[in-house]
Amino acid sequence: TTIAVINGPNLNRLGLREPHIYGKGTLSGLEGNLKKMESEMDVRLYFGQSNHEGDLIDWIHEAASKADGIVLNAGAFTHYSYAIRDAIASVDIPVIEVHISNVFARESFREKSVIAPVVKGHISGLGLEGYELAVRALYAIKNRGNEDE
Ligand code: DQA
Repeated sequence: TTIAVINGPNLNRLGLREPHIYGKGTLSGLEGNLKKMESEMDVRLYFGQSNHEGDLIDWIHEAASKADGIVLNAGAFTHYSYAIRDAIASVDIPVIEVHISNVFARESFREKSVIAPVVKGHISGLGLEGYELAVRALYAIKNRGNEDE
């Protein structure tokens, strides 16, 4: 099982950026911790982070032939990028939308996710733990043979 973990804009600043909201953990720390899951289960993870919408779109397309699922934190693009939404809709693999913070407990513009209708599911508000849960969910979906689709 191969899973792409894709982070969008400003998530390279994890640990520095508004730590009261996003915590003190860094992106490289997160990726390092997730990588450890490879020794625990039959999963291969690869990572990408970009501040550019087009990169995220390209990586979603590429994952369709390289991965069995995508963990995606699209950052603020979540709230307004129809192009990312369409990229997700264009691929057959499941995408899980992750937010570190509880997007429903913050500014009202964060309550709207334009990608929500085209993802498999969402995790919001569980901190960096959310990424690991999303990897486990994609693994389970893949290895159960998508009986729920
Ligand atoms: C975020 C929430 C978004 O509203 C915000 O723009 C981010 C991070 C989160 O992980 O909580 O960049 O996706």
